[in-house]
Amino acid sequence: MRLKNIFVICLLLILCITTTGCDLSDKKIVKIGVAMPTQTRQRWNQDGSNMERMLMEQGYKVDLEFANNEIELQLSQIRTMIDEGCKVIIITAVDANSLSEILDEAKSAGAKIISYDRLIMNTDAIDYYATFDNLAVGTMQGEYIEEKLDLKTGKGPYNLEITAGSVDDNNTIFFFEGAMEILRPYIQTGQLVVRSGQVNLKQCAIPHWKEDIAKERMTNIIKNYYDKNHLDVALCANDSTAFGVINALKAEGYGDENKKMPLITGQDADRKNMKMIISGEQTMSIFKDTRMLAEQVVVEGKEPETNDIGNYNNGVKIVPSFLVRPQFVDKSNYKEVLIDSGYYYENEF
Ligand code: BGC
Repeated sequence: MRLKNIFVICLLLILCITTTGCDLSDKKIVKIGVAMPTQTRQRWNQDGSNMERMLMEQGYKVDLEFANNEIELQLSQIRTMIDEGCKVIIITAVDANSLSEILDEAKSAGAKIISYDRLIMNTDAIDYYATFDNLAVGTMQGEYIEEKLDLKTGKGPYNLEITAGSVDDNNTIFFFEGAMEILRPYIQTGQLVVRSGQVNLKQCAIPHWKEDIAKERMTNIIKNYYDKNHLDVALCANDSTAFGVINALKAEGYGDENKKMPLITGQDADRKNMKMIISGEQTMSIFKDTRMLAEQVVVEGKEPETNDIGNYNNGVKIVPSFLVRPQFVDKSNYKEVLIDSGYYYENEF
């Protein structure tokens, strides 16, 4: 009940802003800010435009901005949203730890803050967090590897290398831990062998999830540790890191007749990665239906739902959260998951 009250009072109350004296019978005067991290990744374009469309359909004004992965730019975009009088600001942070001061200002100005997909750390200014089940993303990647390599029946050894996300993104820890909970025991038994020895998050992390950094790191690993060995599995946290890894492997002769591509994981089901899944260069991805996440924050006339009230502590408070369930996608089920659901058209691949 207490939680319910908190929501009624302070959440994404696009409608209930009457409490702040704003007449919502004329929605056109209500502006919502949507601050996305970058346009270079397909998903943030999609998330941003889904929310913009849904909010505009409901009659709100929207300021949608992309920050080119630059902290300073995102700060100045959020400042503009405060100055414009945005009543709600929906943010996917470039850097989870850099927004405390600006969000204090937003809160003082009366704006409600929604942390979108990535948890914003060290601030009490967030009212709500909507994301995918990030631990499940990693677990699904780990279980996919476990099943395809038949690890439960003792098969192996297989050579594995790990590519993780950006450490300034709180999700990275969940993805990494979810996958490693499944894979770590097999590393301990020797069924999975990490020849580079790089098994800690810091060693495997890719700043800003950049394709070229993932590529460069994997090129070095292959040159230094796989001269006489074959890489069998590449756990990649998402599709951009998978893309970099695939390019590195191709340049080192993987995919040729005698050098089979390893099993490669990803996340986001980006168009260009789906093409590589269909052609056999990448093995799987995790589909996160961004339409469902956008719907979760753009609620009209009702309280935003929560289904997790313990796992997302941002260092200052446990943020009431809603986690959308992701699902794996590979060559065997992509038509059903992505095309029959209307997420993509068949001719996009
Ligand atoms: C998101 C992933 C995305 C990554 C890079 C993470 O915070 O959860 O879906 O691939 O950022 O943009």
